[in-house]
Amino acid sequence: MLELPKLRIGDLVAEVPIVQGGMAVKVSTAPLAAAVANEGGIGLIAGSGLTVEEIKKEIRRARELSTGIIGVNIMVAINEFKELVNASISEGIDLIVAGAGFSRDLFSLGKEGDVEIVPIVSSVKLAKISERLGASAIVVEGKEAGGHLGTDQPMKSLIEKIVDEVEIPVIAAGGIMDGQDIAEVLEMGADGVQMGSRFVASEECEVEDEFKELYMNATPEDGVVIDSPVGLPGRALRNEFLNKVEDDELDTSCDYLCLKKCSRRFCIMESLIKAQSGDMDQGLVFAGEKAYQLNEILPVKQIFENLIEEAKEYLGGNTKDD
Ligand SMILES: Cc1cc2nc3c(=O)[nH]c(=O)nc-3n(C[C@H](O)[C@H](O)[C@H](O)COP(=O)(O)O)c2cc1C
Repeated sequence: MLELPKLRIGDLVAEVPIVQGGMAVKVSTAPLAAAVANEGGIGLIAGSGLTVEEIKKEIRRARELSTGIIGVNIMVAINEFKELVNASISEGIDLIVAGAGFSRDLFSLGKEGDVEIVPIVSSVKLAKISERLGASAIVVEGKEAGGHLGTDQPMKSLIEKIVDEVEIPVIAAGGIMDGQDIAEVLEMGADGVQMGSRFVASEECEVEDEFKELYMNATPEDGVVIDSPVGLPGRALRNEFLNKVEDDELDTSCDYLCLKKCSRRFCIMESLIKAQSGDMDQGLVFAGEKAYQLNEILPVKQIFENLIEEAKEYLGGNTKDD
C-alpha cells in the first residue's frame, strides 16, 4: 500500500498531511486540536474570540494532552489580532494560521518569535506575496469552506492555478470530506489538506450536541452564504437566525467591539457564542458546503483511520465506486 506523504511546514514535520482547520468561536479548542495532533496531523486552536489569558490557557491545555504539532488560527480582522499572536508566540506555539484578511506584520512577528506563519489565501497574487514575505506554507481555501470566504472560486480551480506558482507547501481547504477528496488534491500537487466540517462532527469537538445535530440533519439546501459583519461572505447552515439575517430583522447592538471594521449588521461574536453553546435558533452555525454529507459523529482516531485508508485505497487505484 502507498503511504501518504508527510507534510513539512518549515521545521515542522506532520506524519499525516491533515490540518484540522481553526474554528471560532470555541469550536476548535484544545481537546480537538490535541486529538488531531496525537494522530500525526496538525491541530489548530481557534484564537478569535478568546482573550489573551484564554488563548494562553487553551494552548497549555492542548500541550498537556499532546506532544504533537499544535497551532493557532487567528483572524486578521479582529481587534486583538496582534495581542493574540504575541500571546501564542510567548506560549511557544508551533505555527500561526491567519485568514479573514492579510497581515504583512505577521511575518516579522513570526520571524522574531521563531514560529511558522501560514496565511490563508484564495488567489495566485496573495499566494506569491505570502511566499515572498516568508510564509512557511499557505492554506488555499476555496468557496466550499465553512466560515468566512475570500473567494467564489472552487478549491480545485485555485489549487490548479497556485501549485505551480509557489515553492512553499500548499494546503488545500474547502469541501474535503473523505479520503478520496484528500487523494485527489494530493494528486493535483497539493502537499496537504485542511478540513473543518469533518472535525466538527467529532466526539472531541467541544460544541454542544445541538450544533453537531444540525450538521447531521443538514440537507444540501440548508447551506447558505450570508454577508457577515466582518465584510466578507460567510458560509453557514440555515436556521431561524439565518432567516432573520436574510429578512434583515436583526438586533444591531454590540457588546464586544471585536472587529477592526464591522458593518454592525448583527453581532457576529454574540451569534457565534450562542451557536457554540447550543442555541440553534439564535446562533450562527458556520459549516462547509458539503457538511450535509456527514452522517456520523466519530472519535478523531476513527476519522483519521477512515481518511487514511480511503486515501490510500484511492491512490492504489480504487475509487469509492469500485
Ligand atoms: C464552524 C466553523 C468555524 C470556522 N472558523 C474559522 C476561523 O475562525 N478562522 C478561519 O480561518 N477559518 C475558519 N473556518 C474555516 C475552517 O478552518 C476550514 O478552512 C474550512 O472549514 C474548510 O472547509 P470544510 O469545512 O469544507 O472542510 C471555520 C469553519 C467552520 C465550519
